[in-house]
Amino acid sequence: MSDPNQTASPRWFTNENTALRQFWHPVARLDDLDGPGPHPIRLLGVDYVLVKLGEWTVLPAACPHRLAPLSAGTIVDGHLQCAYHGWCFAASGACVDIPAIGPNTTIPPSAHLDAAAQVDERYGLVWVALDEPLSPIPENPEWDDDAFGLAVIPTGTWNASAAQMADNFLDVAHFPFTHLGTIGDPDDLVVGDYEVVRDGWSFSAVHHHSSKVLNDAQSGETDRFETFHRTMTFRCDAPHHVRLQIDYGHDGDLVLLFFHQPVDIDNTTMYCVALAENIADGRQQPEDHIAFQAEVGREDKELLEQLAVKGIPLEPGVETHTKADKITVELRRLLADIDTLNQQP
Ligand code: FES
Ligand SMILES: [Fe+2]
Repeated sequence: MSDPNQTASPRWFTNENTALRQFWHPVARLDDLDGPGPHPIRLLGVDYVLVKLGEWTVLPAACPHRLAPLSAGTIVDGHLQCAYHGWCFAASGACVDIPAIGPNTTIPPSAHLDAAAQVDERYGLVWVALDEPLSPIPENPEWDDDAFGLAVIPTGTWNASAAQMADNFLDVAHFPFTHLGTIGDPDDLVVGDYEVVRDGWSFSAVHHHSSKVLNDAQSGETDRFETFHRTMTFRCDAPHHVRLQIDYGHDGDLVLLFFHQPVDIDNTTMYCVALAENIADGRQQPEDHIAFQAEVGREDKELLEQLAVKGIPLEPGVETHTKADKITVELRRLLADIDTLNQQP
């Protein structure tokens, strides 16, 4: 008789986990939006429209009348008007006008749309929580600190889950292998001991290691190999946003923010910015950071997109962990805690 535990399929945390409705996700970079919309967006495998009716709101993609795409509509008198028969919707999702039945008539309850619980702007992005969020949009004071200059890394969509991308950005053992072409030091293989501290819907860790010089990839001098020590302070904020603060000891701090939009089961859009003290004081240009981070990201993307399943297993025994993986094991605990929300009434 076969052991059911051997044959049961593992549960995977994917981009379409419904508990993700209770967390904040970025859905667009403000600079990429040409006006108030309506803009089609996709989140957790579902289509929506993002539209600014005074404030930003996120509404279902299909009109409740004949399911026309509301992204084809227009804004009329502060409402979103469907392009097919002119039904009008307020930011709350309420249907406020059905032209074909005239004024002072009863609007059927099913004509109203469920709007996202909250929409906000932060870090040059529009953020959405489909249900009331359990944790805030991550705090990163460097965004408002004049001592830090900003480099916006081009938005990219990866064939991977947001959890896998967070897993990769938190990983401290992959640098000498995945990143040999950029930051990886082939002589710095052993991950020193480090602690991970959980704080509610976040956790953090500090890791010391050696790295190649920041601009090695751009110098074109591939035989140049200067290494130095750096301290990396990681923080992961639920569901899978990553903050990485790098202290180079001599050149000011660099803060990398990785915010993820779980688009659907196969795809994740990453919004990344670099905030660096040496940009603000003119020692480097934003273009330097953009080019360098884009190359580091390309190395990660190439590897990550080859993982067959677009998710992270929640059950023990599917993966093998070591003491070097403490930080990404904590990510799995956080994801498991998020997943338990699905069992709550
Ligand atoms: S389909 Fe939208 S108003 Fe008819
Ligand atoms: Fe990486």
